[in-house]
Amino acid sequence: LSTQVGIVGGGPAGLMLAHLLGRAGIDSIVVEKRDKDTIHATHRAGILEAPTVRMLVDEGVDGRVLTEGHEHEGTVLRFEGESHRIDFKRLVGESVWLYPQNEVFLDLANARERDGGDVRWSVTDTEVVDLTTDRPGIRFTDAAGEDLEVRCEILVGADGSQSICRRAIPEDERTDNFIEYPFAWFGILAEAPPSAPELIYSNSEHGFALVSQRSETVQRMYFQCDPNEDVDDWDDERIWAELQRRVEGPDGLRLQEGPIFDKTVLKFRSYVCEPLRHGNLFLVGDAGHTVPPTGAKGLNLAFCDVRALAPALVEFFRTGDGTGLAGYSATALERVWKAQNFSYWATHLMHTQPGENPFNQKRRRGEFRAITGSERGAAYFAESYTGWPDEH
Ligand code: DHB
Repeated sequence: LSTQVGIVGGGPAGLMLAHLLGRAGIDSIVVEKRDKDTIHATHRAGILEAPTVRMLVDEGVDGRVLTEGHEHEGTVLRFEGESHRIDFKRLVGESVWLYPQNEVFLDLANARERDGGDVRWSVTDTEVVDLTTDRPGIRFTDAAGEDLEVRCEILVGADGSQSICRRAIPEDERTDNFIEYPFAWFGILAEAPPSAPELIYSNSEHGFALVSQRSETVQRMYFQCDPNEDVDDWDDERIWAELQRRVEGPDGLRLQEGPIFDKTVLKFRSYVCEPLRHGNLFLVGDAGHTVPPTGAKGLNLAFCDVRALAPALVEFFRTGDGTGLAGYSATALERVWKAQNFSYWATHLMHTQPGENPFNQKRRRGEFRAITGSERGAAYFAESYTGWPDEH
């Protein structure tokens, strides 16, 4: 097989890139080890930045995000039982959309099918070869068991945090920037009416909780837990009690309870690979960098990478000029480190460290006041949360 761009990974980053290239008349083949249903059933964050939504709509992926998603013009930060609303619209003129990221995946996968894109699902034994030549390749076994090889001009690693593409870059040619956190999130989906019109990020002496939504009848919530927590130790009653005590306060806020039908523990990590290029291999999304879930930056950041890489590829294939490609890593990393900082900062602001020194607890309270008690502090949060304008 031969194509212009070989893409490893059929998640949102890989599919969005293939979609944009297709619109510019550039051929690609996407290989993905999972099948469509498995990816669609994997629950991810639910907040899309405005530029992410504009990309889906303006680039002709699907308008479903506008009809089935919910625009949120603000969010609530809650500390020790007191709520403060951050008004994105008023502070920075932007909003975000609540639309599950697994639906973004579905819209992209359907758009690829509609537009005749070549996506190979359920492949095994994927390998990337000849990265530093002008004819790199992907070897894999397809769903029918046939061994295949794709030769291309440019390879893109969009294969998530366990990326085989990243690992194909020799260790002495990349820097792995990595930190771990002493906590995780316990995520649930429940059949219940919404408890609030917007998200609530709540810090309490018992730890952090996030109240999010999915629809009028399904709610998504998380609470800070130990990274080694076993979901089977938690029945519905225990989970609701824990969530309730993490939001309770003098205003009498109570969460609407209902049967819980999904429980998962999400590990926290921050990671950046530098640079995001090796020869003719380019990394996008989680393959190049991972953020902890606080603030829901992961998919939004992946789309920023794609917005930087796609035009550089178009330029390269139209004119042979590789200037844009040469600048891709530095351009993308500017945004990546800003988002890394926000995700790290928001995580530390809102989570309680195990055995936290009372000094730190009180310092965080001071920080919280500095954000919620000031127009400029709140605007900093609003700008970071809704997403900065592109650098390029
Ligand atoms: C959701 C997840 C997040 O990490 C976040 O910051 C906001 C919302 C969600 O799943 O809805």
